[in-house]
Amino acid sequence: MTARKIIIDTDPGQDDAVAILLALASPEEIEVLGITAVAGNVPLPLTQKNARIVCELAGKTDVPVYAGCDVPLSRKLVTAEHVHGKTGLDGPVLPDPSMPLTDGHAVDFIIHTLRAQDAGTVTLCPLGPLTNIATAFQKAPDIVDRVQEIVLMGGAYFQVGNITPAAEFNIYVDPEAAEITFKSGVPIVVMPLDVTHKALVTKPRNDAFRALGTKVGIAVAEMTDFFERFDKEKYGSVGAPLHDPCVTAYLIRPDLFTGRHINVEIETQSELTLGMTVADWWRVTDRAPNAMFMGDLDADGFFALLTERLAHL
Ligand code: BDR
Ligand code: CA
Repeated sequence: MTARKIIIDTDPGQDDAVAILLALASPEEIEVLGITAVAGNVPLPLTQKNARIVCELAGKTDVPVYAGCDVPLSRKLVTAEHVHGKTGLDGPVLPDPSMPLTDGHAVDFIIHTLRAQDAGTVTLCPLGPLTNIATAFQKAPDIVDRVQEIVLMGGAYFQVGNITPAAEFNIYVDPEAAEITFKSGVPIVVMPLDVTHKALVTKPRNDAFRALGTKVGIAVAEMTDFFERFDKEKYGSVGAPLHDPCVTAYLIRPDLFTGRHINVEIETQSELTLGMTVADWWRVTDRAPNAMFMGDLDADGFFALLTERLAHL
């Protein structure tokens, strides 16, 4: 099996960090061509730094990390320190990175990579607001048809919203970018809150990370220790939802997930429901399907995979 070439577009974020670690721990299935940082959970200077901290934690300092867009396409940036802490990676004490940022803009890296690689061989994995992806598509429309697939974390249907009553954070922060992405015609797989709220780090699952006894295992346990307090208070859930790792787990074990190929539109006008993913789950319109919208996962299988892979780092 040849490894699938991906670009991880991210705003780390503890759950982004775990998603990146899972990808870097799985070289047989995944080749990470680069990591592109975007403003989201925290501002860009922190997300690009956090991406490098995570690469160093994994011992993979040869992965290029690029800084991308520092504000959404046409709105003010909304951040989520209330969830992720001041640094975005609160929890473990991790050293400042010594690996440098790679020169150049993340958007140009995405464009260049899609042009340089064979058409249909590069998958984009957005784990934050879709600003970098949409900017690349606007700047270089020729790359759109060259993308193999977009596998992203964002949106919700049954869970509706987490940052507003109607919207999930990644889509809410840059709804115009999400609209461009969902209308691009690229095959899209969506991991919405409906799935990610089932990927909960229970106490035994967290104990299993810590029991690895490695730097990575302990850091992941400490990240989820920190990250869980928000969801426990808000939803009364048993632990932290590992939103973004659903994306990288899907690349390795798509059979862990089930969903429906449906139409998904993004609300960009209404103040009340801005950033809502209007998912035609029940197929009540004749709008053409544009996304594989996931609804369920095998949580035990997901955590078994994650723990097994983290042990490799
Ligand atoms: C998404 O928003 C961020 O807080 C997380 O990293 C995840 O990508 C969940 O709504
Ligand atoms: Ca994220």
